[in-house]
Amino acid sequence: MHQLIKTNDGSFTLYNEVLDETYHSVNGALTESLHVFIKNGLMYRPFEKNEIHILEVGFGTGLNALLTLEHKPIDQKIFYTAVEPYPLKTEDNIAYFEHFETAPKKLSALASLLQNDGSNFTEIESGFYFSLLTQKIQSLKMADHLLRYSELAVFFEGFDLVYFDAFAPQKQSEMWNLETLSSISEQMSKKSLLTSYCAQGQFKRHLKSLGFNVIGIEGPPGKREMTVALF
Ligand SMILES: C[S@@+](CC[C@H](N)C(=O)[O-])C[C@H]1O[C@@H](n2cnc3c(N)ncnc32)[C@H](O)[C@@H]1O
Repeated sequence: MHQLIKTNDGSFTLYNEVLDETYHSVNGALTESLHVFIKNGLMYRPFEKNEIHILEVGFGTGLNALLTLEHKPIDQKIFYTAVEPYPLKTEDNIAYFEHFETAPKKLSALASLLQNDGSNFTEIESGFYFSLLTQKIQSLKMADHLLRYSELAVFFEGFDLVYFDAFAPQKQSEMWNLETLSSISEQMSKKSLLTSYCAQGQFKRHLKSLGFNVIGIEGPPGKREMTVALF
């Protein structure tokens, strides 16, 4: 069901034959993830908190999670919740990264990421806690997270950063409708941020109607613009 495709920066992406869609930009999978989610997400502005709570919508191959681990600020803890209703087979996921010309630096953490069953957080490396929920984002509510967090001695009032990495609106429109975006915004903290490779007008209008301050930013190679939305 998934075909491996080499992208322009020597990293790879997967092609989903059912949706006729790739997991990343064919202009450079690694470059896109670094630009959209690390540079214009994690690093977009300093989070003035000791603990950052990240929600990734669409864990896919785990590339964004591995890059976040690599770029974690030393003095901050990260609690990373990834959502993926259709996880790849573990062996396919591991094999995917073996083709990269330059593998993510923290690739050795992949197996531990994939072992998490979503019932709690695993400390992958010092200060990086990870939880993988194998359900649709539409089925998640703030109460579900509060339950998971209740066993930890940390303050959680919603996600500070959302990596919104769904398949394109033309392929999976239900990910981008007002209902889904509204439900995600209800799981975000005050002064939080959502980042996405997508700059579609309807997506930005939905975000604005939910109270986001929407900023258009230069996109990764092959894309004129991407979106950062401050909540
Ligand atoms: C563009 S890919 C994500 C790529 C991924 N972030 C990575 O680094 O490899 C979109 C992902 O969203 C997942 N997805 C599909 N429906 C979803 C839903 N209802 N809720 C959350 N994720 C969903 C897909 O299975 C796919 O893995």
